[in-house]
Amino acid sequence: MTLTITQPRPAAVVILAAGKGTRMRSSLPKVLHPIGNAPMLHHAMKTAAALAPAKTVVVAGHGADLVTKATAAFDRTAEVVLQNAQLGTGHAVLAAAEVLSDFEGDLFVLFGDTPFIQPDTLKAMQAARTDADVVALGFQAADPGRYGRFIEETGRLTAIVEAKDASPEQLAIRVCNSGLMGGDCQTMLRLLGEVRNDNAQGEYYLTDLIGLANSQGLACIAVMCDESETLGINDRVQLAEAEAIFQNRARREAMLSGTTLIAPETVFFSLDTRTGQDVVIHPNVVLGPGVQIGDRCEIKAFTHLEDTRLAEDVKTGPFARARGGTELAPGVRIGNFVEMKKARLGAGTKAGHLAYLGDATLGAGVNIGAGTITCNYDGVQKHQTTIEDGAFVGVNSALVAPVTIGQGAYVGTGGVVTKDVPAEALALARAPQVNKPGYAKRLREMFASRARDKKQ
Ligand code: UD1
Ligand code: CA
Repeated sequence: MTLTITQPRPAAVVILAAGKGTRMRSSLPKVLHPIGNAPMLHHAMKTAAALAPAKTVVVAGHGADLVTKATAAFDRTAEVVLQNAQLGTGHAVLAAAEVLSDFEGDLFVLFGDTPFIQPDTLKAMQAARTDADVVALGFQAADPGRYGRFIEETGRLTAIVEAKDASPEQLAIRVCNSGLMGGDCQTMLRLLGEVRNDNAQGEYYLTDLIGLANSQGLACIAVMCDESETLGINDRVQLAEAEAIFQNRARREAMLSGTTLIAPETVFFSLDTRTGQDVVIHPNVVLGPGVQIGDRCEIKAFTHLEDTRLAEDVKTGPFARARGGTELAPGVRIGNFVEMKKARLGAGTKAGHLAYLGDATLGAGVNIGAGTITCNYDGVQKHQTTIEDGAFVGVNSALVAPVTIGQGAYVGTGGVVTKDVPAEALALARAPQVNKPGYAKRLREMFASRARDKKQ
């Protein structure tokens, strides 16, 4: 017996992102408005990545410079093509025709403003290509409204009719177009070249490809998904709804992958957040972009992390903040009101209370006393603080960077450290204490007499 495994053909993805998004009332192109701290466009690109595409092309128009930057930030190999006038979705795909001219394989078209299509849905479209020349993604709409309608006959998709061009009978159809479509790349481009704009909106519709394909004897079918996946964002009310949907999904995914969320509805994730197994996240935690949390970490309440990586067994908070490329090695302990910016802390290092560690590199087993501040900014430049393995920094120390505290050194409480401290040295950088016997009584008398003078 032989097993035939049909490998999917190479895939190219075109993401339409040229529209202005008038209803956002924004100078920022719609596809760059963030959901989960990442531009909407990145969500579509992340979904597209499920196909491991050989080519990814983003069609930009409004705010093309910004869209180009955002595209590169997600995937430097993705290409951006310009659609100078927004003459319709079909016209938009043709803007990619030149960069796809010798591509042999399938083409999948996605929308940059439709962030919730699941990777498995895209894979289902790809799999359905074995049964049809063109596949379009549809859904049962609760309120079909402005969506294009799927016209189907005996399991075949024969046309997609835009709401504005539909007859009353067609408008009664509830199977609607999500916008996504896939098929042989060269066939789709050829068909799109034949699309006309003689319709209610005077646009070149991508959706007309289905009727054309049918008229040329090609088979088209619908693949269905849940309506929640097809949510498109047109205004800021929908943007907020989308954020809520994203957060709920991210929370669920984190929990299913082994992270405990004690009060899930109060924990906020970003598109790129990664959490390990047996992580516990307490209430009211915000995870900004660029956060990775290793196995068995405990993130206590009101911790705020951005651009920060935690190795295993790290504990932070309550009320901890880290940002700017901070890295915490295994077993680090961060307590309340500790802020870290571009700080690297070695294994088992502790900063338990009230500290600022900025532009600092700390070795393993370092102890940072309460009230320690790295004075990293002189008003002009930022400077580095280095604290080597096993050093102990006493409470209320100001470490004036650039400065190095050597291995195993000890900084006495309340020091203003302006010079490097050699390994194993004790640094005392404060005025020596003077005790004046009996002075307390004299001082009180002096203050009382001043108060009397003032009253008179
Ligand atoms: C489109 C579909 C409709 C479907 C709906 C789902 C067409 C003709 N209609 O309608 O059947 O039900 O999506 O939401 O395809 N874009 C460009 N350049 C253009 C025009 C659009 O890049 O010239 C981009 C937009 O930025 C957007 C996407 O294509 O990301 C969809 O365009 P939009 O105008 O929102 O299409 P709909 O009218 O919603
Ligand atoms: Ca739309």
